[in-house]
Amino acid sequence: MAAVAVALLVVGSATPHRARALTSVTRFDTNDPRLIAKGEYLAKAGDCAGCHTAPPGGPSGKETLHPAAPFAGGLPMGSPFGTIWSSNITPDPDAGIGRYSYDDFERAVREGVAPGNRRLYPAMPYPSFAKINDDDLHALYAYFMHGVAPVRQPAPRTHLPFPFNQRWAMMFWRAAFAPDDVFVPHATRSAQWNRGAYLVQSLGHCGACHTPRGPAYEERGYDEHARLYLTGGTNDHWFAPNLTGDPGAGLGRFSEQEIASFLKQGHGGGLVTFGSMVQVVEDSTQYLSDDDLRAIAHYLKSLPPAAPNGHFDGQSQAAVRTVRALDTGNAELPGAGLYQGLCARCHKADGMGEPLKYPRLAGNPAVLAAHVDSLVRLLVEGGEAPHTQSGPEAKKMPSFAGKLTDTEMARVLTFVRNAWGNDAAPVTSREVAQVRHSLGK
Ligand code: HEC
Ligand code: HEC
Ligand code: HEC
Repeated sequence: MAAVAVALLVVGSATPHRARALTSVTRFDTNDPRLIAKGEYLAKAGDCAGCHTAPPGGPSGKETLHPAAPFAGGLPMGSPFGTIWSSNITPDPDAGIGRYSYDDFERAVREGVAPGNRRLYPAMPYPSFAKINDDDLHALYAYFMHGVAPVRQPAPRTHLPFPFNQRWAMMFWRAAFAPDDVFVPHATRSAQWNRGAYLVQSLGHCGACHTPRGPAYEERGYDEHARLYLTGGTNDHWFAPNLTGDPGAGLGRFSEQEIASFLKQGHGGGLVTFGSMVQVVEDSTQYLSDDDLRAIAHYLKSLPPAAPNGHFDGQSQAAVRTVRALDTGNAELPGAGLYQGLCARCHKADGMGEPLKYPRLAGNPAVLAAHVDSLVRLLVEGGEAPHTQSGPEAKKMPSFAGKLTDTEMARVLTFVRNAWGNDAAPVTSREVAQVRHSLGK
């Protein structure tokens, strides 16, 4: 926290942001059904509903009758500074954004400034949304004014402790850290590459989870020119893996088709979506057109390997040894016995899982990742694959919280990170204890 306060003070002296020229009266028909339909699609690409809809049971989690109306806000978002509640963005004039002009909408979405100069916290991904182009922003505005049902219920107010309740200070944060230019296509790249880059960097805000954050909670880059862009980040104890071409813990060994199908169905290349990515697939990427998904995958595959971690060699001696050890019951490798008893039923003795049911753990980049928070959190809480329109029935992974001690969790995870040709750093019981402690489980 202190680091952030210092950062805010330091950047307070930075040059003020160049003012965006106020768009002269923009003329577009907000009632145009085609524009509204386009806005609905883009709202999916931006996952506006994912953050602006309360969880089942309403903001308190106890309101049995609360319908969790889409876009009515009230989703609590954990940040290192306290809980931030998402706003009601339905067109209700009092509880929502019904009084917003187009310029108000543009400033809120691109710059994080709500009417009355209320600075928004970057839990709203405006650093990415700054890149949304004008045509798309018109369509989004038309949709939110005329395609969404107004909901009169106001969202809970956010109360962060001092100094983070000083919303005006976000002005300096934004000036120092957030880009403010609309996406500019690269002339030397293909239309497909540019479409993918645009979706990933702007509406998709993939970097909000997949790019590591700095001391002031800023993303360490917003496009492929930054060294750490999309090299992996931890939010809320879910580690979002490296999406660059690293053949170990990145996407280097996966094809465009496999990545596109992962985003559409939650299954691709033997991987199954888990953790906070499940909601991204359920609320957002499953609805994207095949062309857009291919464009996203094409862009990701263009990112050169960065921040390498872990290795996989399915043909290695070690790979053969693991399978033989598990087969013969000669489980002398620490953790192998636990794996055989508790995990092999679904993930199989050869670590290859079962297509469209259980993920492979052999050569799985999330298993080889530099940070093991996600692996521990998944073991503790269990998980469920995403429910999608076109994907298979969602299977569950059980929780092992009551069954395994910290040491046993560390052993079985160390085993899966080093079996079948996987090669990544061991997991210590201390790491497990730390994650469990902060999860309170
Ligand atoms: C990752 C979560 C997240 C996503 C995705 C997201 N928002 Fe938000 N948004 C928030 C949060 C949290 C706030 C409240 C921030 C605050 O109180 O400072 C907010 C605030 C807003 C506001 C300001 C409303 C007001 O007057 O208080 C608007 C407008 C808005 N979002 C529109 C959108 C649109 C349009 C999209 C999709 C293109 C979107 N948001 C996607 C989290 C999100
Ligand atoms: C709310 C945070 C969040 C956002 C936003 C997000 N991701 Fe993820 N993503 C994760 C987490 C956590 C994982 C690890 C779990 C898994 O593999 O499903 C993941 C995994 C992935 C994987 C599989 C990587 C691997 O090595 O297993 C791909 C591909 C991916 N995300 C692409 C994207 C794209 C493209 C976007 C933007 C459209 C995006 N993600 C936005 C959190 C997020
Ligand atoms: C009943 C079947 C089942 C058992 C038993 C099981 N898992 Fe899973 N596992 C799954 C499913 C289904 C997923 C996908 C979860 C999700 O999408 O949230 C998964 C996901 C995973 C992942 C994330 C990989 C990815 O790409 O999704 C890891 C790591 C993992 N399991 C490890 C283990 C370990 C270690 C054990 C034993 C201690 C175990 N699992 C036992 C079904 C199982």
